Amino acid sequence: MKILVTGGAGFIGSAVVRHAIRAGHSVVNLDKLTYAGSLSNVAEVADSPAYVFERADICDRKAVDTILARHKPDAIMHLAAESHVDRSIDGPAAFIETNITGTYTMLEAARAYWTVEGKPESFRFHHISTDEVFGSLGKTGKFTEDTPYDPRSPYSASKASSDHLVRAWHETYGLPVVLTNCSNNYGPYHFPEKLIPVVILKALSGAPIPIYGKGDNIRDWLYVEDHAEALLLVVETGELGRSYNVGGENEATNLELVTKICAILDAERPGNRPYAEQITFVTDRPGHDQRYAIDPARIREELGWRPSVTLDEGLEKTVRWFLDNEAWWRALENREGVGKRLGTG
Ligand SMILES: NC(=O)c1ccc[n+]([C@@H]2O[C@H](COP(=O)([O-])OP(=O)(O)OC[C@H]3O[C@@H](n4cnc5c(N)ncnc54)[C@H](O)[C@@H]3O)[C@@H](O)[C@H]2O)c1
Repeated sequence: MKILVTGGAGFIGSAVVRHAIRAGHSVVNLDKLTYAGSLSNVAEVADSPAYVFERADICDRKAVDTILARHKPDAIMHLAAESHVDRSIDGPAAFIETNITGTYTMLEAARAYWTVEGKPESFRFHHISTDEVFGSLGKTGKFTEDTPYDPRSPYSASKASSDHLVRAWHETYGLPVVLTNCSNNYGPYHFPEKLIPVVILKALSGAPIPIYGKGDNIRDWLYVEDHAEALLLVVETGELGRSYNVGGENEATNLELVTKICAILDAERPGNRPYAEQITFVTDRPGHDQRYAIDPARIREELGWRPSVTLDEGLEKTVRWFLDNEAWWRALENREGVGKRLGTG
């Protein structure tokens, strides 16, 4: 299959690109290379004859039209987005532009391309979204595909809007779409502004390790390599017009998560004192959702996918990857906003 991946230089998109090439697909990576994008994430496949990079903005209809006509993909996997909740609090405009207008532009370009190609039934527009569109859970319950939307941050509201557009383009124009909503990802190539890399890098530098509020917010952690596999399975075998929730079945409070990372670092790179002594509680994020948890029954029962690692296994792999790939994250440390507290409202 020839797959056009938008946002393929980002954290999850690059995992999808690497997996797709390994699985024998051809990939066109369309990415604007914003502060979050990096071609070093796809260096492993850059020389493959099955891989092409196109630098473009998903909001630029002309550029997207040209790239579609040039490469004629069998499927589009749409991951390009502004993805950091804290940045959406400080500057929501970019989220409205990229996540809503950008998705609209991709849908219209895909519809025109699909129409010119004779509306092949096999074509897929796969939209990658987040469980944050479902809002915040209390102590019990899990998000299913039927959970009503209730986004609470500028980021999740912009992603919810994009999900609605994708469903509308399917219902109204018959565009062959599939959707996925996943929980928090972690793993290799995670951009150093997100919680897990922040913890590892602050710990290693001897700086305070910040935890928002009381550290009792719960997330359901999904190893990025498992997620990439799930996404390829959905684009290849998912039912038309259907959405699938993808979760790691790995719930932990932020404090539990940070404590686990500190314990792994104590074993892998022992310091003068336990890393957990660097933990510092800081002012909470405004509107911080309390708990996310995914019920992945549909993708497990219908497509046979399940996560391959536990949180402990995935965190060990992740910490070791960051220890072994210092040159990768050092090169990103001076990007705008990295290492700073963002999104205090
Ligand atoms: N990271 C998570 O835990 C998580 C969880 C749920 C859903 N998601 C969704 O998965 C997708 C990928 O997330 P990620 O964490 O890899 O994001 P990321 O921020 O690491 O990467 C985003 C990529 O998109 C590119 N991009 C941004 N704006 C663009 C534009 N206008 N045109 C072209 N390219 C552009 C960036 O250069 C970057 O390479 C997003 O749609 C996000 O909403 C992420």
